Amino acid sequence: MAMDEKGSEAASVRLGFGLELPMIGFGTFPLRGETARRAVESAIALGYRSVDTAMRYRNEDAVGAAVAEARATGTDVLVTTKLATDQVGHEREALLGSLRRLRLSRVDLWLIHWPPGGSAGVGSWRELIRARDDGLVSAIGVSNYSIAQIDRLIESTGTAPDLVQRSWGPNEFDENYLAACAERGIMLCAHSPLRTTPLDHPVLVETARRHGRTPAQVILRWDLQHGVAAVPKSAEPARMAENLDVFGFRLADEEMRAIDALAAASVS
Ligand SMILES: NC(=O)c1ccc[n+]([C@@H]2O[C@H](COP(=O)([O-])OP(=O)(O)OC[C@H]3O[C@@H](n4cnc5c(N)ncnc54)[C@H](OP(=O)(O)O)[C@@H]3O)[C@@H](O)[C@H]2O)c1
Repeated sequence: MAMDEKGSEAASVRLGFGLELPMIGFGTFPLRGETARRAVESAIALGYRSVDTAMRYRNEDAVGAAVAEARATGTDVLVTTKLATDQVGHEREALLGSLRRLRLSRVDLWLIHWPPGGSAGVGSWRELIRARDDGLVSAIGVSNYSIAQIDRLIESTGTAPDLVQRSWGPNEFDENYLAACAERGIMLCAHSPLRTTPLDHPVLVETARRHGRTPAQVILRWDLQHGVAAVPKSAEPARMAENLDVFGFRLADEEMRAIDALAAASVS
């Protein structure tokens, strides 16, 4: 597991079946077409080794083109994609479509995008397990699931998701959710990490100033120190680089607690 010198957090995490997932991946929604391909190319050139897409984003072909180009020159990049909820009952065909568009024989991480019809989607989950057993995907998980929905999957199949992706930022900090994931051995990954808390919040601005960093870097660093992965999106190479450069500093315990407390402050 790659460790960094100053921040001492791992740059990647080992999921089930030995998948080494970078803690910071590149988010690709709502980029499409040439814009998406160029953005993913830039992100890879800047050092990203994990890309987050979904059937729903309609950019798997563009992501696949950029990843194929990188792989052709010996740079391996992990790909996460997601099963669209309207594909219930057609999971295998949906996966084969994603693989074709992505130009891959195996997806590194395949997630159920949303709980189908608000239910846990046990039938779909069985299909994800089967795809993993068949070697079409390396790791499997869910997105936007409650702990109760995750427990339903575990009770029904005996198999826990390797990872859950959900909207997660300081304003959404939920100690119980984080603890429940840890208890079940599930990695938490933040989508929309920079979107749900105002980046000009004084606590973030002041913390960033103390470390000579930006509020966005403080949020991503806060994620890392909680053991949470993240997939920030930027269309701008300078911000892509900024979002990846979060391993060289460390937030103090009291800074972490002050950022945790933004969630309670945001609802009161
Ligand atoms: N599973 C799901 O249901 C789900 C839902 C939503 C998103 N996602 C995934 O999560 C990824 C990220 O989520 P998101 O795009 O909603 O939100 P986000 O990454 O938290 O925020 C993106 C926004 O922040 C800006 N930004 C990026 N870096 C910045 C920085 N360093 N400083 C200031 N502003 C910055 C971007 O603008 P610029 O592009 O102009 O830099 C963009 O407007 C998506 O791309 C997608 O892959 C998954």
